[in-house]
Amino acid sequence: MADDTTDTKSSNQMWGGRFASGPDAIMEEINASIGFDKKLFAQDIRGSIAHATMLAHQGIISAEDKDKIVHGLNTILSEIESGNFEFSRQLEDIHMNVEARLATLIGPAAGRLHTARSRNDQVALDFRLWVKEELQKTEQMLTGLIAAFLDRAEEHAESVMPGFTHLQTAQPVTFGHHCMAYVEMFGRDRSRVRHAIEHLDESPIGAAALAGTGYPIDRHMTAKALGFREPTRNSIDTVSDRDFAIEFLSIAAIAGMHLSRLAEEIVIWSTPQFGFVRLSDAFSTGSSIMPQKKNPDAAELVRAKTGRINGSLVALLTIMKGLPLAYSKDMQEDKEQVFDAAESLELAIAAMTGMVRDMTVNTARMKAVAGSGYSTATDLADWLVREAGLPFRDAHHVTGRAVALAESKGCDLAELPLSDLQAIHPDITDKVYDVLTVEASVASRKSFGGTAPSEVRRQIAFWRARN
Ligand code: ARG
Repeated sequence: MADDTTDTKSSNQMWGGRFASGPDAIMEEINASIGFDKKLFAQDIRGSIAHATMLAHQGIISAEDKDKIVHGLNTILSEIESGNFEFSRQLEDIHMNVEARLATLIGPAAGRLHTARSRNDQVALDFRLWVKEELQKTEQMLTGLIAAFLDRAEEHAESVMPGFTHLQTAQPVTFGHHCMAYVEMFGRDRSRVRHAIEHLDESPIGAAALAGTGYPIDRHMTAKALGFREPTRNSIDTVSDRDFAIEFLSIAAIAGMHLSRLAEEIVIWSTPQFGFVRLSDAFSTGSSIMPQKKNPDAAELVRAKTGRINGSLVALLTIMKGLPLAYSKDMQEDKEQVFDAAESLELAIAAMTGMVRDMTVNTARMKAVAGSGYSTATDLADWLVREAGLPFRDAHHVTGRAVALAESKGCDLAELPLSDLQAIHPDITDKVYDVLTVEASVASRKSFGGTAPSEVRRQIAFWRARN
């Protein structure tokens, strides 16, 4: 099949020395990553400038060559940024696209840039820089989402709603308390992000192909120039490791799971049957056939994006799990997973922040249903323990009978006449009605982290100070 006369078949200018002919078209297609790794152009150029500067500082290349290289790389950066750069699939990836252009721009000095490095440490560097920036962006976005929830929690520290377990009415809670549950979740996600930034804050450049290099390079210098805490310590691990990408995907999957649970709640809450919240027009859509409908599409898509993110995590874990050390080309498949998940996560956080800030909370509706489903039954049992001295198990039994009676009468606990309650237990007095309201129920739950408005405000203050 070899046809050395066509362009696609000419041997590669980067490693063509050993090759008589270029790749088959299919080889070129499966091999090329430029279609997606061109996203790394800024990181690639930054890394190359730091590397060339270090090479000159160490006397490995001349200062003149370094100046030419740096100038050429900056030219390429503006060419790419302004859309005046022609990416070539024959040149496989971003690293070789940049280097080939550098050769055209500055001639033979370009060939000195790749001294004491390999694409293996180069790609590890570019990708780490990209993931680090993405993690920093994620941290900011989560902070924005947390701030949105803190505002809503403050506004609704006293708004009563039904709390659920098994999606069955359990006990009354405040909407502020429910919002603060999400603050805890996204707060944990944000601290995972911060830890991940710490984990990946080591510079791979200088590990070379896998064994390090004989040139007298200074890896501490490049690490510092690129904003890393320190260089990585094992050159084999450095070019084999994609933990930082997998860690990003795991964090994205966990945060996505939280976002998806919230999305599911919004979907449920915004049905007319629940009617707890109304989404703003800005975050819902209509139906082309049913004029009455307002659909929570953004929430549904957040729920769906989470599925994609999970897929990316599993894909990269699977790509990596069978690879012997050190680098294998399989690892080139890491980027699309991370890029796709990052885009999904950013969109999901942004959409959720908007929805949370914009949605109208129907406090009257939530309060009206907060008392249904015998949600204050535990308060009755607790009253019997406190005021009538019953052991909790007996109080539970007495309360169960009261609930059964109310159910048979089709009324709430608070609507049972005192004579009915006293028939079940003689020590019950009319004081009991004080604890059967939903407001009294939530106000009584002052245990640390409980749903009482005073506790919710304490937790809001904690998070405001932490932000
Ligand atoms: N495009 C490659 C990647 O993303 C760069 C590293 C290539 N290294 C190699 N030894 N072929 O992984």
